[in-house]
Amino acid sequence: MGAMAKDAKKHSRAVEAGAPPFDLGALSAFADDACRRVGEVSDLSHLEELSTELLGKRGRLSVLKAALGDVLPKDRPVFGEALNDARVRIEAALVEKKDALAQGELMRAIALDRLDLTEVLAAHGPGHLHLVTQVQEELEDIFVGMGYEIAEGPEVETDWYNFTALNMPRDHPARSIQDSFYLDIGDKVTHLLRSQTSPAQIRLLERGELPIYAVAPGRVYRRDTPDARHLSVFHQIEGLVVDKAVSFGDLAGTIDVFVKAIFGDAVSSRLRPAYFPFTEPSAEFEITCTICGGEGCKTCGQIGWIELGGCGMVHPAVFEATGVDAETWSGFAFGFGIDRIAIMRHEIEDIRSLLENDVRFLTQF
Ligand code: DAH
Repeated sequence: MGAMAKDAKKHSRAVEAGAPPFDLGALSAFADDACRRVGEVSDLSHLEELSTELLGKRGRLSVLKAALGDVLPKDRPVFGEALNDARVRIEAALVEKKDALAQGELMRAIALDRLDLTEVLAAHGPGHLHLVTQVQEELEDIFVGMGYEIAEGPEVETDWYNFTALNMPRDHPARSIQDSFYLDIGDKVTHLLRSQTSPAQIRLLERGELPIYAVAPGRVYRRDTPDARHLSVFHQIEGLVVDKAVSFGDLAGTIDVFVKAIFGDAVSSRLRPAYFPFTEPSAEFEITCTICGGEGCKTCGQIGWIELGGCGMVHPAVFEATGVDAETWSGFAFGFGIDRIAIMRHEIEDIRSLLENDVRFLTQF
C-alpha cells in the first residue's frame, strides 16, 4: 500500500471510530481549568487524586494522545505540541502545588512539635544561679576585693599535682584520708578526679610568676558515702598567697576578714593547731556557731565553734617541688568547702538537698 493510501485509510478509521475532533481552543480551556482546580486543592491526598484524574491513563490528555494516530499526518505536529503544552502546564501546576502543600505541612508539624516554654516560665518564673554558684561568686567577689586573682585547675588531675607535689608521697597515710576516684586511662594509674583544690596551688607556683595572691574555686571528688554532712562531689575554694615576708598573722587576719564578709561582723574566727602535709605550721579554722552565736547548741555539739577549713604556711617541700626559692618567698594557703558555707548560712539540715534539684528547694535562694 502506498503512503497516500495508508493515510486515507487511517483517516477513515478515525472518522469511523468517532475520535474526538481536535479542538485547540477546548484543549487550552481544559488546561486552564485543570490548573485552576489544582490551585484550589488544599491537601496532598486530594492533589494525588486530581493528578491521576488529569494525567492518568484514563484522563482526557491520555485519551486525546491515543487518538493522535487518527489525526491527519499534516495536523499531527500542531495537535501533538498542543497536547504536550497542556501536559507540561498541568504538571508544573501540580509540582508547584505539591511543594507548597508539603512546606505548609512541615510548618504545621514544626508548630505542633514546638515546646511552649512560656508555660514553664509562668509556673516557676525565670531560673537563677544555683545556691552553691551564688556562694562561690560571692566568695570570689570578696577575694577580688582584696586584690586576689581567680585561678582554675582541671578536675582530672595527675597524682603529682593532687598528692606528690603537695608533700604527700605514695605511701603517705594522708592519702587514705582522701580516698579518691582513680581513672582507668592508660597502662598505669596516673590520673584521678581531684580530691581537693590544693593542686591549684602547685599549678600557680609552677607558673613562676611571683608574688601570688589567688583563689581557685572548683569541684572536687571523694569516695565518701553521702550523708547529711558529706557529698562525694562537692566544692572547695583554695587560697594561696606567696610574697616576701608573709606571716602567720597575715593568714589569721585574712581569714577573719573573709569570715566576717560572708557571715557578718557578729561571727568571729579562730585557728587551732592541725596537721596538713603541705603546710607547716598547719591549722584548722573555726567560726563561732552561726546557729547559737557561740553559746553552744546541737549543731556545734555544745562547743560554740564550727570547723570551716584548713590552712597554714606553705611547706618548704611544696616550694621545692615547684622550684620556688623558699629563702626569698614565704606564703600561706587555705582551703574550705563552699557547699558547707551554703548550708551553714541558710541552716540547711541535709547537704544532699543541694544536689536533688527539687524546684521547691532551689527557688528559696
Ligand atoms: N586540701 C585540704 C582538704 O581538702 C584543705 C586544706 C588544708 C587546704 C590546708 C589548704 C591548707 O590550702 O593549707 O582537706
